[in-house]
Amino acid sequence: MVARILLIGSGAREHAMAVALKKSGALVYAVMKNVNPGIRALSERVLLHDELDAPAITDFAKQNAVDFAVAGPEAPLAVGVTNALEKTGVQCASPSREAAQLETNKLFTRDLMRRAQLPCQAPWQVFENSNEVREFIENASSAVIKPLGLTGGKGVKILGETLATKQDAIAYASELIKKDGRVLVEEKLVGEEFTLQAFVAGGDCTSMPLVQDFKRAYEGDTGPMTGGMGSYSDSNHLLPFVPARARDAALEAMRATVRELKKRFGFEYNGALYGQFMLTRDGPRLIEYNARFGDPEAMNVLSLLESDYVELCQQMIGGNAPQAQFTRKATVVKYVVPAGYPDSPQAGKEIRVDETKLNENQRIYYAAVNERDGRIYSTASRALGVLAFGNSIDEAEKSALNALSAVSGQIYYRRDIASRELIQKKIEKMRALTSR
Ligand code: AMP
Ligand code: GLY
Repeated sequence: MVARILLIGSGAREHAMAVALKKSGALVYAVMKNVNPGIRALSERVLLHDELDAPAITDFAKQNAVDFAVAGPEAPLAVGVTNALEKTGVQCASPSREAAQLETNKLFTRDLMRRAQLPCQAPWQVFENSNEVREFIENASSAVIKPLGLTGGKGVKILGETLATKQDAIAYASELIKKDGRVLVEEKLVGEEFTLQAFVAGGDCTSMPLVQDFKRAYEGDTGPMTGGMGSYSDSNHLLPFVPARARDAALEAMRATVRELKKRFGFEYNGALYGQFMLTRDGPRLIEYNARFGDPEAMNVLSLLESDYVELCQQMIGGNAPQAQFTRKATVVKYVVPAGYPDSPQAGKEIRVDETKLNENQRIYYAAVNERDGRIYSTASRALGVLAFGNSIDEAEKSALNALSAVSGQIYYRRDIASRELIQKKIEKMRALTSR
């Protein structure tokens, strides 16, 4: 029987999910807040609507007799859309609001890990008092200041990088205490970041290929933090500077976390889980969990997925972590964003895409654009991801650059994402760090 699936979200991550669902023969029913032309073209029906409106989403799911639902972004999880769907009998291959606290509540996760002495933690403290945080920062050798709730990755500031002086760090921490009542201060981790995504159910985790995301807006890893300007993965499903033992240690930490979530609170985690780790000289340390695929990282792994995605979702809903096969190719994603992104993005401008210029190893995943009368217009967010496969990262990178000639308009992208020079620098940095 053909599966009917509700897909929530309107970005490139959800476009990649829609492609994987269609490849598995499913019918897609999409809820999206902007008209993503990629998802729209793959869907039987679209509800163009607020992705947080649980009653409207459950009605749409019922009307279309969907077999199950899957959510792309974190915001619907945070407000309980999956709980509302489950309540009306629509099962979800995404976590409940409670289980999604691994992403939505930084203190919840850190507390859970600290109490159970789980592996891969980074040292942290929470402050509610401006004098105490001042004293702590004045005496600390490093500080990463984080708001406790969801900020789309943009609220984190680091002493010595986005905060020039200790005074700036103290001022920012105090500002967050005023706003939220509390602030998280973490030790700065030194190393290279990697993303490990896993299919999770029944207290077990199945690894997907490792990915590295480039969060800074401008070339050479400079400029403001963004949701991610691009990403890459390698043909052996590791990264050039991340050995298998580091991946395995990170996976073990994720497994221990979902088991502890069940043991301590009774919350079952079913769905994709994203672990963002820093590989330090002492091994991987957790920076953040996301209760979903990453964006852009979903494009890398889902493009490589050979297994039937619908079956994987059904197995997770049934409480079993599925086995999954991925093609042994490298991938590179370069995000196209409106000129001026992220500080003063040119929204509402036409972006022209000529998909006939792409070959079978190149793909376009649409993100926060709007389609009107067959034309595509930018919003203030990332517009589309260009992905290319290759036998090596280098080959995929050159191919992704080449594919970008299919896109024109008032756009910007980082040419240097996954470039040979940038990756070589990362390899050398890790080598220097671990040989000290
Ligand atoms: P987050 O929103 O927690 O994912 O953090 C955003 C970015 O801040 C991460 O991708 C890292 O680049 C950086 N970051 C967060 N926590 C730390 C830390 N403890 N040490 C160094 N960098 C960090
Ligand atoms: N790439 C980071 C995220 O999806 O949150």
